[in-house]
Amino acid sequence: MNSVLRLENISHAFGQQPIFDNLYMSVANNTVVSIVGASGVGKTTLFNIAAGLLTPWAGRVFINGVDTTGQAGTVGYMLQKDLLLPFKTVFDNIALPLTLQGFSKAKIADIVNPQLASFGLQGLEHQYPQALSGGQRQRAALLRTYLSDNPIMLLDEPFSALDFVTKDEMYHWFSQLQKRLQLTCLIITHDIDEAIYLSDELYVLKGSPAIFTQKFSIPKDEGFLDSQAYLQLKKQILTAIQS
Ligand SMILES: Nc1ncnc2c1ncn2[C@@H]1O[C@H](COP(=O)(O)OP(=O)(O)O)[C@@H](O)[C@H]1O
Ligand SMILES: [Mg+2]
Repeated sequence: MNSVLRLENISHAFGQQPIFDNLYMSVANNTVVSIVGASGVGKTTLFNIAAGLLTPWAGRVFINGVDTTGQAGTVGYMLQKDLLLPFKTVFDNIALPLTLQGFSKAKIADIVNPQLASFGLQGLEHQYPQALSGGQRQRAALLRTYLSDNPIMLLDEPFSALDFVTKDEMYHWFSQLQKRLQLTCLIITHDIDEAIYLSDELYVLKGSPAIFTQKFSIPKDEGFLDSQAYLQLKKQILTAIQS
């Protein structure tokens, strides 16, 4: 399979604090990969490196085979606290990356409007963010990221601020959307159930400096989520994170 994102031999430190030592990973086209790991291990830093916002001390980032190390604007990136601007309408928030690219108003409407229904935002586009539910705001932020039109979306804890009922609905919705739009996604999460539900592969980031200590393939068979095998896998992942 072709990898959309490949990280090769990434090493980094902040001053005297080592962060990564010779880290390697790849995300194949049209797959969802999750990264799980303790708080402070370096997950967001790794995203900043993959997004080209931070140049690692050593190693290379490739997007579709092209070296993009230290080069911003090559991935869709939804930050851990990706707040919508409160003084802009939902539409203008979503359109932000397109506005920044200098598209005309008419062109922006042509791009944004057909997507509103898929993202459950039709009829809400003229509201301000505070009038939306947490799930709706999150979908607006996801649509904005999607419209940056890059080959991969990096989502830093995209559902962590939501209550568990909303989360469940969002998992279901996102998973359908991902299949339909054939999205390639790298997701950071604290939630193992979420990681199993959404991903094809899961990497455990651990240590100081951190490396990927284990990689799991997630079965996608029907009924897996209700099986004993699911509970076993969850236990294995927990052990991998904690041990
Ligand atoms: N710009 C920075 N300068 C110095 N230290 C940083 C910087 N960014 C992150 N760190 C440190 O790097 C470590 C990893 O941070 P982070 O990547 O945010 O972890 P995570 O997302 O896994 O919780 C933390 O100890 C954090 O304090
Ligand atoms: Mg983080």
